[in-house]
Amino acid sequence: MHTLPQLLDMVSQFAQENQFPAAPRELYAPCDYILTLGGKRLRPAILLMGYELFRDDPQPALPAAWAVELFHNFSLMHDDIMDAAPLRRGQPTVHTKWNTTTGILSGDVMLIFAYRQLARLGKMPLIDTFNRVATEVCEGQQLDVNFETRTDVSLPEYIRMIELKTAVLLGGALEMGALAADATPEAAQLLYDFGRLAGIAFQIQDDLLDTYGDPEKFGKQVGGDILQNKKTFLVIETLKVASAEDCTALRNWMETTTTADPVKKVAAVRAIFDRNNIPQIVAAEQGRFQTEAFTCLDAVPVPESRKAVLRKMMEDLLVREF
Ligand code: IPE
Ligand code: IPE
Ligand code: MG
Ligand code: MG
Ligand code: MG
Repeated sequence: MHTLPQLLDMVSQFAQENQFPAAPRELYAPCDYILTLGGKRLRPAILLMGYELFRDDPQPALPAAWAVELFHNFSLMHDDIMDAAPLRRGQPTVHTKWNTTTGILSGDVMLIFAYRQLARLGKMPLIDTFNRVATEVCEGQQLDVNFETRTDVSLPEYIRMIELKTAVLLGGALEMGALAADATPEAAQLLYDFGRLAGIAFQIQDDLLDTYGDPEKFGKQVGGDILQNKKTFLVIETLKVASAEDCTALRNWMETTTTADPVKKVAAVRAIFDRNNIPQIVAAEQGRFQTEAFTCLDAVPVPESRKAVLRKMMEDLLVREF
């Protein structure tokens, strides 16, 4: 069994040995750029931890782990274009540092390199899992965009959207780790559900940080979701509990697409959230998904000692500040 830093070293080593071609630089430099910006590398880490629940030495799972990280970074490069995001991991996003064409094409090639790694494994069930969750991520991203122009998104619709855009990839990473280690389908399913439920809590945390994060630590533009009229948990909960006056004010802001005074919009919407105790309500809801997630991990039929690293990683993640 390895510690988190040891697993991250293995992932970095693997990335070093599997670099992009040297040319054309215009295509590959942005890939190198985003991959070295200091992402948490959560998905490859949990994939390897999923493997290590069942088998020692996760070397055989490294191509799958790197494939999932490549896919994640591909999705971020395109997500930042879709969300008009200026910052990623504390640095300019690819489409602002270069341009949108670069963001699209460099993202595309990272996705292809993810498949090249997966193909090396020669294990069809892993590829099936990857394809299933990768399709769902696109579905979730589409719903997220659709919701920008609606103000009547329900809580179940929102939860389903974040389950698709974010949570299934965490579940899929754990499932792939389990499958790579030849775990039983039941154990793989429990791990998938653990990742999926923790992933929902993780995205709720991301929504909270987007408005309430410390700009120094968060690494993304604080208030970005408000400016994009994202239907985050914060917005949906406000529309459920706030006075008619606050609901109307929030709806009016959410119909503003011009960013004549972005600072004013973020401050006004945040003030509505604040006076309705939205951060507290949303954090409590996050906690419920987290608790449910850990019941799935508890049920995985391996000794508790083997689960310690994964358990700690997820616990730390759900109180993160970036
Ligand atoms: C960001 O994911 C996208 C979401 C699903 C919220 P992470 O928070 O894992 O991003 P990095 O890879 O650590 O930068
Ligand atoms: C992104 O959700 C999910 C995917 C990239 C698929 P967000 O748009 O909230 O992620 P961030 O906040 O930009 O990292
Ligand atoms: Mg985004
Ligand atoms: Mg997005
Ligand atoms: Mg976000």
